[in-house]
Amino acid sequence: MTPIGILISGRGSNMEAIVRNTHDGILRGLCNVEVVISNVQTAPGLSIARGLGVSTEVVSSASKKRRRFEEDMIEVLQRYGVDYVVLAGFMRILSPHFIRRYRNRIINIHPADTERFRGLGGYDWAFRQRLAATKITVHLVDEGVDTGRILAQREVDLRGAETLAEVERRGLAAEHEFYSEVLRGIVRGDIRFGE
Ligand code: GRF
Repeated sequence: MTPIGILISGRGSNMEAIVRNTHDGILRGLCNVEVVISNVQTAPGLSIARGLGVSTEVVSSASKKRRRFEEDMIEVLQRYGVDYVVLAGFMRILSPHFIRRYRNRIINIHPADTERFRGLGGYDWAFRQRLAATKITVHLVDEGVDTGRILAQREVDLRGAETLAEVERRGLAAEHEFYSEVLRGIVRGDIRFGE
């Protein structure tokens, strides 16, 4: 069983989907969510995680130097023996110091094709561009913002999606399945990268 930690800042719907898949879905017997860490004390995802029986920790980033914040997170991740750091709606940029510590072991999901759109608002971008399809990207996290190596992409059909809410609904439904599928590929060694 590969031990993973999930970092969130808010809603936590991807985190929830992953945890549920470790309990009775495609990640069962493959990986275990040792801890969910939020940098925001009021993140709704924290109570969802607790309700699913997962340990949670708040590592506040407010009024703290980034180095201190990241050292505190590393301490928690080490305490829980985490092998992979899975970002799911985590709203802080990680410094090279943290990236080096978990090189090739930090994974993120981005709601667009990172080769076409980086940063916040991927669904809004797809909606405004009136794209017929967008691509959800799971990628390694490196020192840049959404610049890490692409591990897998899933196309989402947006034809007939008349509102941003509908674009988000379709996209999130795809994210919830796809993130776990890619994590399964990683822990089984089907998706290979780095050492
Ligand atoms: C998702 O759209 C994810 O792709 C992006 O942030 C959003 C997080 O949603 N990185 P949730 O907190 O998992 O519900």
